[in-house]
Parts: sequence; structure tokens; C-alpha cells
Amino acid sequence: MINNAAHVRTNRARWNEISDDYQRLNAPQIRRQVFTGDISWGLWAVPESRLGVLGEVTGRDILEMGCGGGQWSSALVRRGGRPIGLDLSERQLHHSRQLAAETGLSFPLIQASAEAVPFADDSFDIVFADHGAFSFADPFRAVPEAARVLRPGGLLAFSHVSPIYEITVAPGRDAPGSRLTRDYFGLRLLAEADGLVSANLPYGTWIRLFRDNDLVIEDLLEPRPAPPASDSHSEEPAPAQPERGDKAWARRWPSECIWRLRKPTR
Ligand SMILES: C[S@@+](CC[C@H](N)C(=O)[O-])C[C@H]1O[C@@H](n2cnc3c(N)ncnc32)[C@H](O)[C@@H]1O
Repeated sequence: MINNAAHVRTNRARWNEISDDYQRLNAPQIRRQVFTGDISWGLWAVPESRLGVLGEVTGRDILEMGCGGGQWSSALVRRGGRPIGLDLSERQLHHSRQLAAETGLSFPLIQASAEAVPFADDSFDIVFADHGAFSFADPFRAVPEAARVLRPGGLLAFSHVSPIYEITVAPGRDAPGSRLTRDYFGLRLLAEADGLVSANLPYGTWIRLFRDNDLVIEDLLEPRPAPPASDSHSEEPAPAQPERGDKAWARRWPSECIWRLRKPTR
């Protein structure tokens, strides 16, 4: 089910265009996860085994929102989970099918928008995304949908770039900077330099949105890259014009966050 909002149409078309490049550029991390089952979160590839965000997955019904190449869902099959991969882009799903054919791992893949999830209420034990649909879908539609399809006691976990990162992105750039450029209180749907529309909210608005959907916040993780190996006490200064994925920037400021939320038992 794909809703017809302008940002959803834009993101579907754009993800179809950039999917082959995205899969090629990220192939080392994607293929490592698919073929070893070692799952890691976000820009800094922090292992799930260290963070323990999802916890036990064996026998759990799991929905991955914005699964891309399906590396997370593949790894969860290896761990005894029952994932379904959902994505807006047919080209991303094509890559997911190709990788699944290479490994022989099978799990359902569906084309849909996180803003109109085609599953009944209380269908899943875990709903999650790693820089997936929650980074692009309107949070005021995607969070209620995730809460709706979760069973009581279920876990919603997702990562996205931090609101602080977002407000330092200068016009025409797709990397953070060291000056505030965008309006913090204007965060919701943001036209990015690469043609995508990204989604984010002020921290307080995220928190009220979770509360309005009866989700209890268990944690907000702010992963950072490891310190420089040579001398862990001296931090490099962040460059004035960092590139995307700049480690010195992300040592000083939060580049991403991972929410861990619980739907209470009734
Ligand atoms: C940055 S990619 C991440 C994919 C995967 N988690 C990874 O780490 O490679 C974001 C994914 O979200 C998908 N997406 C964007 N908007 C979406 C929406 N409204 N509903 C479902 N998926 C969406 C895109 O098609 C894309 O595959």
C-alpha cells in the first residue's frame, strides 16, 4: 500500500534512481551482514551484540520498515527470527531479492509505505529500522502505524540522523557542518540536496509523538565512532566543511540516535 503524499512519491522515484549506486557503495557492510549475520547499527556500524537494541529475536514476528537490500532481515532469519521486509522502492526490493537468492535465505518482501502499513493491528513482536523508513516517512503517520501493528509488550526500535545533525546541514550540502543553518522548530519533512525528502523532529516533539501513541521510551542511544586509535585523549578538530560520515564531527556532536520504545501490555 503506497499513500499518495508528495514526499512519498518523490522518495519512491528517487530511491529507485539511486538504489544501484547505494547498494554498490555500501556493498561491503551490506554483504558482510547478509553473509555473516553480524548485525550492526548505523553510520558507525556499532554491533547489535554490543548495543542489545533488539534483544532476543528467535521465534519473534518482526517487521523491518525500509529494509533496502534486506541485510538486517537476512541476518535475523539466520538468528531464528521471522522477519518481513517492507520498502517503498521496487529497485531496493529487487536488490533484496537478489541477495536473498544468493544466500538461499527466504523471508517475505512487500512494497508499501511506512505511512500505510498493510498489516492488521497487533501483528508483530518487533518493528524496527536502521536508517530506514523513519528517516523519510512523515513521523506523524509512520509512528502511529508502527504502534498499531505492534503487539502489546512489543518493541519499536529505529535509528535516524540526530536533529542536531539535521540543523547543521547547509543549503546544497548533504553533510553536517559546525554552524546552525536550519530551523530546529521547522523540522518535519526536509528537502535534501540529493533530491530525497528526509524526516526528523525536535526531540520534544518525538517524545510527545511517542507518548500520544502509548509508546514508553526505554532508551535513546547516541552512537559515536570509536576514538582515534593513536591517542584516545586527543580529539581531532572537526573540519569547517566536513564530508558525510566525518568521524571527527561525530566524535564532538551526535550524528545519529536510536530510539528503543515499548508498547505496554494491556
Ligand atoms: C537509507 S535506506 C536504508 C536501507 C537499509 N536499512 C540499509 O541500512 O541499507 C532507506 C530505505 O527506506 C526506504 N523508504 C523511504 N521512504 C519509505 C517509506 N515511506 N516507507 C517505506 N520505506 C521507505 C527507501 O526506499 C530505502 O530503501
